[in-house]
Amino acid sequence: METLDLIQPDDWHLHVRDGDFLKTVVPHTAEQFARAVIMPNLKVPLTQTQDALAYKERILSNVPKHLSFEPLMTLYLTDHLKPSEIAVAKEQGIVALKLYPAGATTHSDLGVTDIKRIYPVLDAMQRHGLLLLVHGEVTDPSVDIFDREAVFIDRHLEPLRKDFPALKIVFEHITTQQACEYVKSADQGLAATLTAHHLLLNRNAIFKGGLRPHYYCLPVLKRETHRMALLEAATSGDERFFLGTDSAPHLATLKEHASACAGCYTASVAMSLYASAFEAAGRMDQLERFASLNGPAFYGLEKNTQRLRLQKQSFEVQVEYPFGEGALKPLFAGETLEWSAHLMA
Ligand code: DOR
Ligand code: ZN
Repeated sequence: METLDLIQPDDWHLHVRDGDFLKTVVPHTAEQFARAVIMPNLKVPLTQTQDALAYKERILSNVPKHLSFEPLMTLYLTDHLKPSEIAVAKEQGIVALKLYPAGATTHSDLGVTDIKRIYPVLDAMQRHGLLLLVHGEVTDPSVDIFDREAVFIDRHLEPLRKDFPALKIVFEHITTQQACEYVKSADQGLAATLTAHHLLLNRNAIFKGGLRPHYYCLPVLKRETHRMALLEAATSGDERFFLGTDSAPHLATLKEHASACAGCYTASVAMSLYASAFEAAGRMDQLERFASLNGPAFYGLEKNTQRLRLQKQSFEVQVEYPFGEGALKPLFAGETLEWSAHLMA
């Protein structure tokens, strides 16, 4: 196969940061994706609808004039968010709220310390039809970092789903066979996003020829059996699995650091990466469902009307991009990718 035309895809999980950083990363996403679900974990987390709407305007002001791109906004759940904010959020077009267990990842310090504390908010979300997006890892330091996702399912996700059977939940950036099986076993209301890097890489990548901080993200890459399970889920045609890059830009100086920040920057070449993964699995025929159809169906949105062309045309990934006062290094910097992506006129 040399060319594949798709309904334009969406990115259902994206970090774009704020301020000058938007200038670099927003165009990268808008060149491929029609919409993206924007994560609210800014330095000052977005907990209020009006702040998320102002942020949306800042993102939109960085979309190149010839492109159309819609940021889908989310709010950050804390122990203290008022249930009354949910009706306001729904009315103003916020699509979802993000649950970060406190301390689980980048800028999650103000996250939820005990899910029971947000039960009144979850109840309001269930009534108003707002989705819950979950960073599914326990923060219990006694649990091995490679097991934190699997343990989260039993300790938190299953009880939560029992208590809120009508709440639509996205289990974000899943990384394990257990998560794939759990999503498949759910009868309704549960879906999952999958990143390109978890489909392409296992944890050996972090240690190949030395410690490689650009491969460090959370949830951390897992062993090969898990990668195989994720690839099977993504390419199976099952409508509960869809694309979410979790592209998470950090200054190169903070990645190449004694305590490197978690996050892989993949947005600039995202569709090339997903195409490589699907091609390796021999399932290019399933890429459109995963990238362009399953997400809108779960969120209850229309599919896109524009189209994206993937062409077998190799190119080298740019080594770095200017990023605020510093540099941003993408995953696979300097490596050759086989598929290029272009919006069709
Ligand atoms: O690797 C990650 N980076 N995982 C997350 O959950 C957050 C993200 C970020 O914001 O940098
Ligand atoms: Zn994320």
